[in-house]
Amino acid sequence: MTKTFAVIGDPIDHSLSPNIHNAAFNALGMDCTYIAYRIPKGELKEGIESLKLIKISGFNVTIPHKIEMMKYIDESSEECRTVGAVNTVTNENGKLIGHNTDMGGFLEPIKKRNIAIKNEDVLLLGAGGAARAIVAGFAKEGAHKITIANRTRERGQELAKFAASFGTESDEVTLEEAGQSAGKYRFIVNATSVGLKNEPSPISTNAINSQSIVYDIIYMPMNTDFIIQSKKNSATIIYGYEMLLGQACLAFETWHKVKAPYDAMKKVLLGGF
Ligand code: ATR
Repeated sequence: MTKTFAVIGDPIDHSLSPNIHNAAFNALGMDCTYIAYRIPKGELKEGIESLKLIKISGFNVTIPHKIEMMKYIDESSEECRTVGAVNTVTNENGKLIGHNTDMGGFLEPIKKRNIAIKNEDVLLLGAGGAARAIVAGFAKEGAHKITIANRTRERGQELAKFAASFGTESDEVTLEEAGQSAGKYRFIVNATSVGLKNEPSPISTNAINSQSIVYDIIYMPMNTDFIIQSKKNSATIIYGYEMLLGQACLAFETWHKVKAPYDAMKKVLLGGF
């Protein structure tokens, strides 16, 4: 019988996940399908009940449900508890198991390049849901210090406390200060939504240099202004699509227990740009 998978969220019509997972099913000749299902804020409970009725095999969870989804799972993975959010769910005969592949998906392109995180300093722009998984990832990998810069400073301070809860040194600065001191950090990560609409970089990139690892988690557009400017300063670039693929591969492997066909998934993703 065909197994059905889904991504739930709102908005969901531009999600690239159906393309990525269906390409993987085709590549491996699997009898599975993956759909996008819009569940508006406030309707998560009913939405999940309907997914159970159609015996969904598994699903991804995206904005705005990642945190609320914690309430509706029967069991959770360690990553899920660490981040406090769910992005991947397995349905085992009606029992929902929550996972979080954002943290591992974020780290994957760094590991692939053999770039060490241990004892390095991180400048993180943004303090939303995505930033939380990134802080957990850097903390877990033994970063020396995580500095958060966010438009709303209170949220930045909260996230700095979250970093400290792992025993990682942390502090909070303004976006302006972040631009001025960017040259001091090994990693500079954009986890704000600035760039999605082709806005200029959220910080000044003047101090970014050839020793900087610049990672923008925005994947559409692929080349944000932050990336374009950092490239001019010879920084090493990690693209948002690499995190998207990383988390999709981990979700795939969680569900199907086989290695994800990375190249087929990458091909369809890059074709979508
Ligand atoms: P996600 O879950 O994808 O991280 P989010 O929780 O809405 O999304 O977070 C969006 C991030 O982008 C926040 O850090 C937000 O800053 P605020 O906490 O001040 O809202 C940041 N952001 C959005 N628009 C911004 C802008 N114009 N300038 C600077 N930061 C912005």
